[in-house]
Amino acid sequence: MNTKSKKTAEIFDGKKLADEILLDLRKKIQLLPSRPGLAAVLIGEDLASHLYVNSKKKACQKVGIDFHEYLCGEKCYRDINQEGLLEMIDFLNNDPVVDGIIVQLPLPKEFDTQKIIERIDPKKDVDVFHPKNYEKFLTDDNQLTPPLIQAIQIALSQVRENLAGKQTLIVAKNEIFSQSLDKALEKNGLKTEVANPDDKDLLAKIKMADILISIVGQKHFIKATMIKPGAVVIDAGTVLGEDKKLFGSVDPKAEKVASFITPVPGGIGPLTVAALLKNIYKLANNKL
Ligand code: GUN
Repeated sequence: MNTKSKKTAEIFDGKKLADEILLDLRKKIQLLPSRPGLAAVLIGEDLASHLYVNSKKKACQKVGIDFHEYLCGEKCYRDINQEGLLEMIDFLNNDPVVDGIIVQLPLPKEFDTQKIIERIDPKKDVDVFHPKNYEKFLTDDNQLTPPLIQAIQIALSQVRENLAGKQTLIVAKNEIFSQSLDKALEKNGLKTEVANPDDKDLLAKIKMADILISIVGQKHFIKATMIKPGAVVIDAGTVLGEDKKLFGSVDPKAEKVASFITPVPGGIGPLTVAALLKNIYKLANNKL
């Protein structure tokens, strides 16, 4: 008999919690005088982007949000360019049945992503990508929170341990995003640090982290052996692999080392979608 104790981490069920949030939203939305609307613009044929937009569509259908799909690719709006996309956003900005607009990223390289994001009316910016909204999010607690940040905060709130003052490492390439997550978690009482995946001291920083948040777009980038025993591990990196299977940025073997871990799929992903829908509800409700 194997007498070695094989402690494994608590595996967070993001799907279950997301379904609870959606159920609650559905009830609130039924009380609104009209159904909220989300417009999603997707350019090109990237399979992962299509999957993500589809999961947003399904979630909208569950809660009673009208989903206005603008799929621009081989079948439709084939020749759309930067100007055309800006015009489409202007149209959606003025469309009264649209409460929120998302332009699925990444855009094909011929588009100027920053210009596109800045064209979205800040009052319809459910992703909280517009610089004005970002700024407000960092300075004013009453504004919308970016969905991924909400999802990470919700997951951390489920850890049955006092996290105050815990050493938290955010591993991410996108500096704008990691800096705002950093500030948000600092406000929540964590001791935070940000590292780029290329940081030469990355291994040492990961080994010190009581809470590790990985937002890296590379399959199983973080190995079990890198992690501090007993750490809380939040995997917010998703990669679409072979056979349309989703993989995280943390090797699942990390379950044997961590005390709490969010899986991919079924962890942060569904919660991010639920948080996006919460933002649409807030925008639709604010309009009343
Ligand atoms: N691409 C990957 N994640 C996101 C997201 O949260 N919003 C948008 N618009 N595009 C994405």
